[in-house]
Amino acid sequence: MEVYSILLPGDATFKRVFEENKPTAIILSGGPNSVHVKGAPSVPDGFWEECEKRQIPVLGICYGMQLIVHCLGGKVEGLGKGEFGRMPVVDIPTHTKLFGEDIEPQNVWMSHGDEATVLPDGFKCIGKSEQGCVVAIEHETKNLFGLQYHPEVTHSEKGMRTLKHFLFNIAKCERSWSMANVLEEQIQIVKEKVGETNHVICALSGGVDSCVAATLVHRAIGDRLHCCFVDNGLLRYKEAERVMVMFKNELHLPVDCVDITEKMLSELKGVSDPERKRKIIGKEFIECFKEYKKTVEKKTGVVPKFLVQGTLYPDVIESCPPPGSDQKHSHTIKSHHNVGGLPKELGFELIEPLRVLFKDEVRRLGKIMDVPRNFVARHPFPGPGLAVRILGDVTENNALETLRLVDEIYINAIKEFGLYDEIWQAFAVHLPIKSVGVQGDQRSHSHVVGLRAITSNDGMTADWYPFEPKFLQEVSNRITNQVRAVNRVVYDITSKPPSTIEWE
Ligand code: XMP
Repeated sequence: MEVYSILLPGDATFKRVFEENKPTAIILSGGPNSVHVKGAPSVPDGFWEECEKRQIPVLGICYGMQLIVHCLGGKVEGLGKGEFGRMPVVDIPTHTKLFGEDIEPQNVWMSHGDEATVLPDGFKCIGKSEQGCVVAIEHETKNLFGLQYHPEVTHSEKGMRTLKHFLFNIAKCERSWSMANVLEEQIQIVKEKVGETNHVICALSGGVDSCVAATLVHRAIGDRLHCCFVDNGLLRYKEAERVMVMFKNELHLPVDCVDITEKMLSELKGVSDPERKRKIIGKEFIECFKEYKKTVEKKTGVVPKFLVQGTLYPDVIESCPPPGSDQKHSHTIKSHHNVGGLPKELGFELIEPLRVLFKDEVRRLGKIMDVPRNFVARHPFPGPGLAVRILGDVTENNALETLRLVDEIYINAIKEFGLYDEIWQAFAVHLPIKSVGVQGDQRSHSHVVGLRAITSNDGMTADWYPFEPKFLQEVSNRITNQVRAVNRVVYDITSKPPSTIEWE
């Protein structure tokens, strides 16, 4: 398959950028740094001259735009304000190279602290935020552009159009990438990596990622793939039994169920710190894989050498290592338990056929492999399960049981009202606070639960779903009537950023 994009780290050398890769267009991406911090990612010496010489268009996004301004003689400052979440871009002039015909104000997704206060010579502002920040720039004569917002996320209304315009009209890149090619290429990679005799294990979670990853690997190596489903004690209402039936009847993959509930909950007892919880859960999964490895060895007489993981590209970005995986320049937002955490002694090599894909692309890949809709259309569910939805100690206050009941009522209502497919992810959260209520003419002092529902494309950014009040009223009534331990229901109306989707 033709290479369509290469991700390089912020310290890539001149040789690597221009000689090893021969780019048609360059995008300088976003990142959490300030250009003023020592060691912040930058471009190699001679970069701007070489782009001009080879006529390579450059687009800076967020931090990338600030880098352009900083490197070419403008000024970037932190004025202590920042802009996060939805924001309209206004004042787009009639004639710009970057926006083409899109001159109307557009809503975009912002996430920045620093801003460009003085533009370098030759640049003009082609868009401002409502608060007056410069959020789009272009050079009068050269193909140099900058966007302070994130055009790549769904919530930037015309962001994709702008990116396509930059790539296909300005830079004249060619489209050569399709999901069928990705499938073919990944099957080939798996076949070559695994060889003719090795065996592979895969932990299926019941979610779309691991199902698609397992189906792909199964196509490549057949019955040398061994799948297990781990009931870690942190699953939703009746999840283990429901999913095992789906595996058997719909996915037609042989799957062993391994129950580690008791061990997991005893390890989590007394632990409230979110990152510590994630680490413990990750460790228990690893112990479980070790045991399953032995089970497969007993069954086949061969030690399985590979482990399949449904790691997606956003997991890679948000957990560090960053794009290009050169281990630098990205903040760990959450330690996603399936990224980079496998100890060497486990002795597995990883197979991650979805590592370059976003969730919507994984769904498309699943569809072309005929993975049943029940799996492909499921809302995502995090590996650490309900542990990141119970704030505090998961073993206290019967929180797991309460949350399971609330979540089941909520999701059933969403399905009943025909909203499931409109929402990217919905779930309930158990809060570590109690509030006073009145139930059956008596004072109660019970738990508060939060409901969250978001729209998104890839989980990298998200907006809250605007339910009709009637729906919220109905759900709140059902929850407080059917779950004794809850006397208050709140709805989360925060976007990502500044929040994350999960509460921990
Ligand atoms: P956040 O909360 O990081 O979530 O905005 C983005 C998406 O990732 C899911 N998520 C996880 N998935 N292991 C996973 O497999 C994890 O540790 C994990 N943490 C969050 C989350 O449910 C959302 O879909």
